[in-house]
Amino acid sequence: DKGNHRHFMQKEIYEQPIVVAQTLRSYLQRFEGKIVLPIPDFDLSGIKRVTIVACGTSFYAGMVAKYWFEQFARVPVDLDVASEFRYRAPVMEEGGLALFISQSGETADTLAALRHARSEKQTIAVVVNVPTSTMAREADLLLPTHAGPEIGVASTKAFSCQLSVLAALAANLAKAKGWLSESEERNIVRQLAEAPAAINGALAYDESIEAIAGVIAGARDVLYLGRGTDYPLALEGALKLKEISYIHAEGYAAGEMKHGPIALIDENVPVVVIAPSGPLFDKTVSNMQEVQARGGKVLLISDYDGVEAAGEGCVATITMPKVHPLIAPIVYAVPVQLLAYHVAVAKGTDVDQPRNLAKSVTVE
Ligand code: F6R
Repeated sequence: DKGNHRHFMQKEIYEQPIVVAQTLRSYLQRFEGKIVLPIPDFDLSGIKRVTIVACGTSFYAGMVAKYWFEQFARVPVDLDVASEFRYRAPVMEEGGLALFISQSGETADTLAALRHARSEKQTIAVVVNVPTSTMAREADLLLPTHAGPEIGVASTKAFSCQLSVLAALAANLAKAKGWLSESEERNIVRQLAEAPAAINGALAYDESIEAIAGVIAGARDVLYLGRGTDYPLALEGALKLKEISYIHAEGYAAGEMKHGPIALIDENVPVVVIAPSGPLFDKTVSNMQEVQARGGKVLLISDYDGVEAAGEGCVATITMPKVHPLIAPIVYAVPVQLLAYHVAVAKGTDVDQPRNLAKSVTVE
């Protein structure tokens, strides 16, 4: 049932404050200020390396997690798409954690990769949305998302719930490794607990995002740029746009522009720049200015400070609430989803059932 919504995708985008709160409830003890796992005595302290494997949008959630695990827990992370991982000869030492992320818990390549990691004596953790799925059954550490059934083929609420679980896992790992003081842990709990309100803040920009969808809807090609955890978000933004609006879109690490893709830039290629203010902001803005100098039309997604500092000269800006780096990707996912959604609606495509795609990919 779509309720008051025109499409399941729209409904699912709007469910995010509730389902993220629902998901985080299993990972936070709010009043005690503690981060926990659904299996409370699961010991993460001996983990020397994490191998993250997934497909599609779930892979991009894993890519965000790589940045977090390295930054907050100082644990080395390998990351691969499942269809590559299983046909490489990945080197996995004993004592490693292999982490699989999947909405359905049935994706054939991810499941095969899980079984391969099992044969390589890894501890198997899974982030899945379907608790009865095959991956859930085969896990040592089951980390559920509580997004509820996702009907739209394009993943939205499952992604933000995956990010929520992965943020909590990163904090747990940091704690197990002794990197987190009690006050830092309390602060992280407070920040994560604010995620649903921050998502609501992002949803409040729905109409202004709808109003600028026309900038994208007429384009043949679109680029998305980001740095740090905004790089996987750029990739996710491009994936969402291409799969539901059929516009060709590419996500790039902002710093890679001058190594090739800048050759594509002219006044016909809109460039979506995802850049919250913070330590990486100036670098990304200088990449953005290189685009503008070549006539590229920039659509900037940032917070108030970022839009104040760099919004001039952009064809459009989207202002997000200012949030902690551990929840920023969860919040910035929303404008990226809404933009793809409104562009697809403007083009009149079948938003919930895009051509050639299936919700669960159980063939290899
Ligand atoms: C994109 C999308 C797909 C899935 C991918 C993995 O919107 O939905 O890229 O993310 O097929 O599916 P799961 O997470 O079920 O393993």
